[in-house]
Parts: sequence; structure tokens; C-alpha cells
Amino acid sequence: MEFIIASDYDGMSRKAADVVESVMKDAPECVLGLATGSTPIGMYGCLVEDTAKGDVSFANVSTFNLDEYCGLTGDHDQSYRYFMDQNLFDSVDVDKAKTHVPNGCAADVDQMCEEYEQAIEDAGGIDIQVLGIGHNGHIGFNEPCDHFPVITHEVDLTESTINANSRLFDDISEVPRKAVTMGIGTIMKARKVVVLANGEGKADIISRAFTGPVVPEVPASVLQLHPDVTVVLDAEAASKLDIA
Ligand code: F6R
Repeated sequence: MEFIIASDYDGMSRKAADVVESVMKDAPECVLGLATGSTPIGMYGCLVEDTAKGDVSFANVSTFNLDEYCGLTGDHDQSYRYFMDQNLFDSVDVDKAKTHVPNGCAADVDQMCEEYEQAIEDAGGIDIQVLGIGHNGHIGFNEPCDHFPVITHEVDLTESTINANSRLFDDISEVPRKAVTMGIGTIMKARKVVVLANGEGKADIISRAFTGPVVPEVPASVLQLHPDVTVVLDAEAASKLDIA
């Protein structure tokens, strides 16, 4: 596991974009696993800028997002499809047909989840998976529990996650209670993983996830078992990390 510690959010975003771009430059037809949330917005901004400059191209890239709320269509401004369009897809040269976000409105959720896993396989597997981390250690929407869920599946969101995400909705009652997420197994199959975190509020969980025991109660701790993980932090998120 490699740690890259930047002084601030902009530095974290730049360094994370560099990690993703090096995969894109090595393999222009690569498959990117993508995350939403506040953390990667700056990194997406760097990718947009670098695409505009011609440093990098999404023309042959495929993407698979980690998760989506249940019950929100792609044009809902809090859906993760909408987030990706706004923060990346609409501003780069990606073929939208090659961008995938789980369908939160599928009539048969289990079937949609199976098809999502199959689509990742058919694309050749994920070359690099971008992850943020929840305050409770969740990755994707894999919440703390007594096992590591393997494949893409429907989840009940915890109160902690609903509260954290309510900042983006007019009222907490509007936050969906369920979501669809890649499983821990789906994430662990990615050939490379880059985890981003910034701010003091993430310092405790970063320390627990990457220097504590590997337990499903801290889902991100499983990444200690992955052979190729880069953790990109700002100084605040790294402040409780003892990796000397
Ligand atoms: C988003 C996702 C979540 C977030 C996590 C951190 O697709 O899968 O696991 O990465 O909740 O969110 P932020 O970045 O808003 O702190």
C-alpha cells in the first residue's frame, strides 16, 4: 500500500488525477471504476482540465460507477448518474454509451446487479477503481456489518450515511433509504485501487482502516489485502496515520 500525502485538497486532487491518468496513458482503452461524493470533485476537475489541454483522452475509456441511490432516475439532481454527468462525463470526450452507473430504478434489482457484474467482466474488468471513504469506513455503500458483501447488491443505508448525505438534499426525509452498490468482492477484483480522503473528519477512519485490523465492521480495512492500493490524502486526513 502506497501513501501519498498532499498539503491540501487541491494537492490531493492533483495527485489522485495523476494516478488515474497514468493508467489512462498506459492503456487508452482502460476501464475506470468511479466514485461520487465530495472528495473526488477536485480530481474530476483536474481530469476535465487535462482532457481540454489534450494531455489525456476518454475517447476509448469505459467507466463503471460504484453505486447509485434506489428510486432516483438519472435526471434527478441527487442521483449519481447526474453527478457524474455534471462533474465529468459532460465535460470530457467520453462515449456516454460506455459509461455505466447502476440503475437505481430497476424493476428487478437482483437481475440488474447480476448484469452489472457481467458488464464489468465483459469490459475486461476494472483497471483502476477510485474510492472515497465514509466516516464509518464504508466504501461504495458497503456499510459496516459482520461480513464482506461480495457482489453488486442492494443495501439499506445506515443512519450515519443518511445523515452525512442529507446535506445535499432539501430535507433529510428526501434522502433515499436504499442504494445499489458494487460489493467488496467487485472492488477487490479491480487491478488497482486509489483511495482519496481529505479533512480532519476523515483522520480517525483513515487510521483505523489502514493501520487497524482487517474487519468487516470497517469495510475499507479489506483494502490492506489488495496488492495495489494508493491512498492519496491531504495533511488533515493523514494527521492520525502512524505509518513511520
Ligand atoms: C460514493 C461512494 C461513497 C463515498 C463516501 C465518501 O460513490 O461510494 O462511499 O465515497 O461516502 O463521501 P464523501 O466524499 O462525500 O465524503
